[in-house]
Amino acid sequence: MTAPHSPTSFGHRHLLGIEGLAAGEITALLDLSESYVEHNRRRDKKGQVLRGRTLINVFFESSTRTRTSFELAGKRLGADVINISPEVSAVKKGETLLDTAMTLNAMHPDVLVVRHPDSGAVHLLAQKVTCAVINGGDGKHEHPTQALLDALTIRRRLGRLEGLMVAICGDILHSRVARSNIHLLNIMGARVRVVAPPTLLACDIERMGVEVFHDMRAGLQGCDIVMMLRLQTERMQGSFVPSIREYFHFFGLDHDKLASAKPHALIMHPGPMNRGVEIDSLVADDIFRSLIHEQVEMGVAVRMACLDLLTRDLTGNEPSEAV
Ligand code: NCD
Repeated sequence: MTAPHSPTSFGHRHLLGIEGLAAGEITALLDLSESYVEHNRRRDKKGQVLRGRTLINVFFESSTRTRTSFELAGKRLGADVINISPEVSAVKKGETLLDTAMTLNAMHPDVLVVRHPDSGAVHLLAQKVTCAVINGGDGKHEHPTQALLDALTIRRRLGRLEGLMVAICGDILHSRVARSNIHLLNIMGARVRVVAPPTLLACDIERMGVEVFHDMRAGLQGCDIVMMLRLQTERMQGSFVPSIREYFHFFGLDHDKLASAKPHALIMHPGPMNRGVEIDSLVADDIFRSLIHEQVEMGVAVRMACLDLLTRDLTGNEPSEAV
């Protein structure tokens, strides 16, 4: 395990996605996150690594977990943290994304964490600013810190990622969580299945290196991890499922369907959950099988590791290309 403050190689200026990261870089991030898990369980959680640094969270979409955990992560590392949301910013007055970015950049932040409803918006913004940028979720594209916290949660429970069988179930089509997880799990040598009705899957999804199932029981067979996703109706135009009742009947995770997975298979969900839609309460609250609260805990540690690594000055070397 890497101790905090030790130089770890992460040759990127930004964290915009999992796609393009190397297995060694992901492992380095997870190892550093491990040390922050311990840090966060201490009574005194105040660190100094980001003392004098400024973190601005810019969230153009609603968020509970991601925004709060980035704020806590920054504060626990000693940074000054500012949160901006469009309802109370000049975006309301018609300012463009890039003008907002340039304005914030002029205040010399060290890190911007950005969530935006449009895929690619965070990449565009990262080209215009001089500080590090972390993608807090862009449209249907990527949500890298969610995939990292999911990986950390799995690795701590099962000791590895390589060789595991992971089923990602539900609204894959609209999910940046699914895309980032598919990239990460493939890079780390896990096997990935996607389980969804055809309407909630891109027709060329196999090209991402996954096996496709339209039947939950078949898709969960032999799985170590079952990752559930919400129906992301805010990204849907029109109806993608006949009815919620029918969707739950065929694709909602309950103990009956879970019985097809490995006997001790674990359940994950990035949140927010819609109980009775994609997941039954008895499964979500099953203390032996559900990792949902552990995922939230890991989220703070992973975000501390990301902030730490992206703000390090390493021996005068210039950071390489953005990822
Ligand atoms: C996810 C997101 O925003 O993409 N939530 C999260 O970050 N924990 C998933 C979702 O909104 O369904």
